[in-house]
Amino acid sequence: KRLILIGPPGSGKGTQSPIIKDEYCLCHLATGDMLRAAVATKTPLGVKAKEAMEKGELVSDDLVVGIIDDAIKKPSCQKGFILDGFPRTVVQAEKLDDMLAKQGTKIDKVLNFSIDDAILEERITGRWIHPSSGRTYHSKFAPPKVPGVDDVTGEPLIQRKDDTAAVLKSRLEAFHRQTEPVVDYYSKKGAVTNLHADKPTEEVTKEVKMVLS
Ligand code: AP5
Ligand code: ZN
Repeated sequence: KRLILIGPPGSGKGTQSPIIKDEYCLCHLATGDMLRAAVATKTPLGVKAKEAMEKGELVSDDLVVGIIDDAIKKPSCQKGFILDGFPRTVVQAEKLDDMLAKQGTKIDKVLNFSIDDAILEERITGRWIHPSSGRTYHSKFAPPKVPGVDDVTGEPLIQRKDDTAAVLKSRLEAFHRQTEPVVDYYSKKGAVTNLHADKPTEEVTKEVKMVLS
């Protein structure tokens, strides 16, 4: 399966991805996670991406297309992949389709996490992550056993720098202006399924599994 997850910040892409990944043995490619790792280790890519990410704006198409082009060629991704947070512009979608056409494959399904903007601030400002594993918690909806501490390793949890109400505003603007057209692009190809992303996590998982079965 070759899947794209599209949805605004906090819609649950990163929460559902690990579950789907394990169920169907896919690789999980999250451009946001890859960029954050590059920023943290100050690679040339990270240095170029940092400013836009902190402002809640999109990083340039060429940078992210480059990362994905390398990643989908990896042997571990040949069985299929989940793209989480990519493509985010129509240009990225066109480039992705070209890359896949060269491999003789294409996207099977686009899962559109539909949810009202009003719900997202609470989800974003309550999020806590364990950086090395990617495990995600929420102070209200998915609290860790001990506040601020990862359940599995006992290591500290952190909050993302862009998870403030102010930066969320820019991220939502970017989503509506630049990413929603990607949903239309794939709708025309008949690839899109809409999910009720405002439901509790387990119910969203059920919907996802129904769509993929
Ligand atoms: P990215 O990391 O992709 O961030 P995002 O799109 O803003 O999405 P989030 O990670 O915030 O949301 P999510 O849907 O994964 O939510 P989650 O499941 O964690 O991108 C960051 C930045 O990188 C961008 O701003 C841009 O600068 C750059 N970038 C990345 N990709 C790019 C690209 N392709 N092109 C250009 N630039 C790019 O859930 C959120 C919280 O809610 C969690 O605490 C979770 O526990 C909770 N939660 C989840 N589901 C539920 C539920 N059903 N009910 C209750 N709570 C829930
Ligand atoms: Zn995410």
